[in-house]
Amino acid sequence: MFRRTAVQVIIAFSCFLMLHLRASAQEKYRYAIIPKPVKLEEREGEFTLNKKTTIYLSSATADLKKATDFLSDLVRNATGNPLMYTDKAAKKNSIHVSLDSSITHQEGYELTVSSKSIQIKAKTPAGAFLAVQSLRQLFPADIEASTNLKRFTIPAVHIQDEPRFAYRGVMLDVARHFMPLNFIKKYIDLLAFYKINTFHFHLTEDQGWRIEIKKYPKLQQVGAWRKETLIGHNNDKPRQYDGKRYGGYYTQEELKELVKYAQDRFITIIPEIEMPGHSQAALAAYPELGCSPDANYEVATHWGIFKDIYCPNEATFTFLEDVLTEVMAIFPSKYIHIGGDEAPKDAWKKSAYAQEVIKREGLKDEHELQSYFIQRMEKFLNSKGRSIIGWDEILEGGLAPNATVMSWRGEKGGIAAAKQGHKVIMSPSSHLYIDSYQTKAGRKGEPLAIGRYLPLEKVYSYNPVPKSLTPEEGKLVLGAQANLWTEYIPTSDHAEFMSFPRICALAEITWTPLAQKNYQDFLKRLNSNIQHLDKLKVNYSKYYQSTP
Ligand code: ACM
Repeated sequence: MFRRTAVQVIIAFSCFLMLHLRASAQEKYRYAIIPKPVKLEEREGEFTLNKKTTIYLSSATADLKKATDFLSDLVRNATGNPLMYTDKAAKKNSIHVSLDSSITHQEGYELTVSSKSIQIKAKTPAGAFLAVQSLRQLFPADIEASTNLKRFTIPAVHIQDEPRFAYRGVMLDVARHFMPLNFIKKYIDLLAFYKINTFHFHLTEDQGWRIEIKKYPKLQQVGAWRKETLIGHNNDKPRQYDGKRYGGYYTQEELKELVKYAQDRFITIIPEIEMPGHSQAALAAYPELGCSPDANYEVATHWGIFKDIYCPNEATFTFLEDVLTEVMAIFPSKYIHIGGDEAPKDAWKKSAYAQEVIKREGLKDEHELQSYFIQRMEKFLNSKGRSIIGWDEILEGGLAPNATVMSWRGEKGGIAAAKQGHKVIMSPSSHLYIDSYQTKAGRKGEPLAIGRYLPLEKVYSYNPVPKSLTPEEGKLVLGAQANLWTEYIPTSDHAEFMSFPRICALAEITWTPLAQKNYQDFLKRLNSNIQHLDKLKVNYSKYYQSTP
């Protein structure tokens, strides 16, 4: 009898424990903000947002209204009612937003939530937008889905915040696999949610040209399409192909719409037009741009590095200047990325024309010829008020005078560039190439990827300022960027799986002061914060939950 009761008690207790654990697993830690703010003081009480909540802007500039309209739309989607703007600050149940010049950082903000009001102060509208993203993360995750919330609470808090780095970037390659415009918008939304402020758009490649250029229609008609695509890994032997024509491109109208969409979220889009390498799709469209104009160039159907690159002839420079002129009319970013990576010099070695340029310009070799090529393009872009970013290969043969270097083959290139007084963005493949596997099992346990092993914790461990730089040189590190190359990422679902939550870790390494980074604390916030991604139907990777 006693034993039966004991067993019943144990079973009942186990059930209670299991239910309790489930409930607490679903509970949201109420201050689960990613990236972690510089200063966050948890306070007693909560603000209740309902259909009577109003919003007041002390300086109603168009840009500031962009930030608060974002908030109002979010509330409307969830509750059916937008926030009502008022001419005077209400004493209760209201949100006050003001620009405050005493806040020192361009993107700095303060957010104070009490039972009576929500106060946002920022130096700039961008800072106010970032404050709105923090507020959004304090909302219940249901805010992200169109439910009928009617009213909800926000925990009282005082936050003072600003980013560690001005450049917080993510690159998406839409050339290897084309991604629909609606997905790019969703992706930009997610970047904004995590305070990433730069979207690097990799638009041209050997395997496809993805931006409409009106002066060169064959880029769309020919360069945007490949006859088939590799199945399996590029190193598999023999290579196999799917036999299906594949491609697509964005019209200029679509891209302008996207730029506006990003601007509404205070995100800069930096377009990348690759040169002189990774240009086989352009050569397929216009063979006169290659060093063997009679060759039968084709849009590439597998991955890797291709030997056919732009020839350094006048036709190429005219073409690229025309292309960049159209690109600049679409993208207002200060920076234009000109690629510069992985350009084998075989074609230039064999080309009488390229050799003549080397002689004419008094250059030492083909590396200096690449430097001459990039410097010409830099001069052109500088004359239009723009600056170039290039992958770290642009160091070879001498850096263009005003170039910013994106260091991807480790940190070496970034360190060398900073020591020469150039600005740097860190994007080492070892820590920030999010096309890598997320578990040790790699191909045996995950969808096919390019290789490497990059678990969440390793991304989180990265510090963009190398120890070998002096404090002055360290200031030249503008920030860091994660790169999503899509050779092995055919769908937007898969892109989400590779991107999240690793981009959450990127957000924190580019925002949060180094001394405040703590992986366990990050995981605690992530476990709650990720409920927002659930509601947004983001196909994030679950691998981070177990030790990979
Ligand atoms: C690169 O990964 N080729 C920049």
